[in-house]
Amino acid sequence: MSPRASAALPGSAAVKALTIRRPDDWHLHLRDGAALAAVLPFTATRFARAIVMPNLRPAVTTTAQALEYRRRILAALPAQLRFEPLMTLYLTDDTPPAEVERARSSGCIFGFKLYPAGATTHSDDGVTDVRHIAPVLERMAELGVVLQVHGEVTDPAVDVFDREARFIERTLAPLVERLPKLRVVFEHITTRAAVEFVLASHAGVAATVTPQHLLMNRNALFAGGIRPHHYCAPVLKAEAERAALLGAVAGGSGRFFLGTDSAPHARRAKESACGCAGVFSAHAGIELYAEAFEAAGALDRLEGFAAVHGADFYGLPRNTATITLVREPWEVPEHYPFGADELVPLRAGERVHWRIA
Ligand code: DOR
Ligand code: ZN
Repeated sequence: MSPRASAALPGSAAVKALTIRRPDDWHLHLRDGAALAAVLPFTATRFARAIVMPNLRPAVTTTAQALEYRRRILAALPAQLRFEPLMTLYLTDDTPPAEVERARSSGCIFGFKLYPAGATTHSDDGVTDVRHIAPVLERMAELGVVLQVHGEVTDPAVDVFDREARFIERTLAPLVERLPKLRVVFEHITTRAAVEFVLASHAGVAATVTPQHLLMNRNALFAGGIRPHHYCAPVLKAEAERAALLGAVAGGSGRFFLGTDSAPHARRAKESACGCAGVFSAHAGIELYAEAFEAAGALDRLEGFAAVHGADFYGLPRNTATITLVREPWEVPEHYPFGADELVPLRAGERVHWRIA
């Protein structure tokens, strides 16, 4: 199926409506409890499936915990919505290789997430050195289980804007070379170095890209004052890096696919002297990408990125239902309810230029 656009050729700025396969989100934070109930409908309205990140407290480290978490997600899903949570396990220094078999045979777990310890929100129990999980990674390579990587070094001597590039050199490139059969998703890439690494690697290496890294550069962190709701990990980068990411996704390579990294935090946890990393984007999780692809003159490439490349990489069926996006601006609320708290979404009080019909 190719995207059907009305009023003009796909890819042109004059497109008014675009029908694509229902998309999937290959990188999502849903949290748990009241927060889960508050954010899940935003994703389930737009996406058929999502890889649900395991950085809860305590982290989702075992197959049994992931199956329990999956049940809680399905229990929180409003009856009229259809959505399939795809689970992933949080790797620790102590993950046993036998967990790889257990996860795979569950039929509900589609990867293992590598958080370098200390790299981001709730990563304290993550991996301190990939050498500690060598037997687990070997088992994953043998069984074709996907490794999802938060690709940043945690070395405090490395400049925060260089942490992704140093991770490629120090950890990811040697790992991919040592285990050529390992399937890897380099999550939420932010740099030209990451784009080039993925394109130069074998076909089992792919990457997700967030809407904020396609739409904003690091100036957005300081526009008129410090902007905690634009802070995420990896942090926004310079304009040349953003342009490289946009060029990569607009180029249509099957190596790049949609992963919002929508990461809700209570307003008071963001607007703080030490604010949490995470941008909430699920309220406009496909609409924001439509803006980015439109700006690149590549709306005809949105469907591949959002609904085809990820499914193909994970070996899952492509969705057959469709959604229609219309070019009609709407104003994003200043905040949404979030349990007993408030959640400030990306573009709060400003416009998003596409909406779902
Ligand atoms: O900004 C981020 N927020 N990056 C991550 O890697 C984790 C996420 C979260 O869980 O809040
Ligand atoms: Zn994430």
